[in-house]
Amino acid sequence: MNKKKLFDYNLEVLQVSQLAAISVFDFIGKKDETAADKAAVESMRKELNKINFKGTIVIGEGERDKAPMLYIGEKVGNGNALEVDIALDPLEGTRITAKNEKNALTVLAVGDKNSFLHAPDVYMEKIAIGPNLPNTFLDLDMPLEETLENIAKYKKKRISDIAVCVLNRPRHKKIFDILDKFSCKKLLIPDGDIVGVISTAVKKNNIDMYIGTGGAPEGVLAAAALKCIDGQMQCRLLFNDDLQKERAKKMGIKNLNKKYNINDLIKSNAIFVASGVTDGNLLKGVKKIKNKFIVSSLIITTEKKKIDFINSEFGI
Ligand code: FBP
Repeated sequence: MNKKKLFDYNLEVLQVSQLAAISVFDFIGKKDETAADKAAVESMRKELNKINFKGTIVIGEGERDKAPMLYIGEKVGNGNALEVDIALDPLEGTRITAKNEKNALTVLAVGDKNSFLHAPDVYMEKIAIGPNLPNTFLDLDMPLEETLENIAKYKKKRISDIAVCVLNRPRHKKIFDILDKFSCKKLLIPDGDIVGVISTAVKKNNIDMYIGTGGAPEGVLAAAALKCIDGQMQCRLLFNDDLQKERAKKMGIKNLNKKYNINDLIKSNAIFVASGVTDGNLLKGVKKIKNKFIVSSLIITTEKKKIDFINSEFGI
């Protein structure tokens, strides 16, 4: 019997994100984050369990005691055709979904076994740029001023024309001050830094760089997408207390201060898919028209190295 290969699963993985988006539809704008998240989690779990692979959740909804479903280490799938790693954020942007604001997505990435960094659910410093830039530009310890100057010089732009996407959080004040000093263009997002990172590689979005601190799970997922389109990213885990450090060590992280480049976050082949829940910069939100749902999605793989945008209809 022929063994299945990772990219044989593209369509099945895509469908997991599409059906999760549909499952959230009734919760958009209903001010109930938990119910919206639960719908996406349950849908993803059900659909993943129909696929003929042996999957392990390595980036999930939390650790086993905290989340009954899709916890880190949970096994999913109903066959042995291939062993895979799964990273997922069933609903990226629970708050924005509950408030019907921009850019909520269902997201997952599937990779060869051991391809994703097993990151704990802590914060992570992130910096990302799109393709076709030298691989010497990203260093979290380089002064931001220098990084901006390097990008501007290489792209032959004025530094004030450099556009930077940042999560709108008070913890990013230092970054905002530097961007303001150079009059850079700031794109401040309320939530959803996976979209922020991917946007650096989408020409029409005109974003030169993403920077800031967000969730580590979202960092690994964003890296899966960006690696597929030859972008660059560097990240470092941040720990609030010793408990978080202990958890990270238990997950196999030896050097807690390590700066991870994209190939450390995603070590080999990956499929990344996302479907729109609410309208956003990358994807339209899920729509219900008469007796069908219309879902807009994207799929990116390390095989094809390009973003495929897909609109699908599902009868009710
Ligand atoms: P959720 O998917 O859990 O709603 O996370 C949304 C998000 O904005 C992520 O994109 C981001 O990485 C993280 O939250 C930032 O965390 P915080 O809201 O604590 O600053």
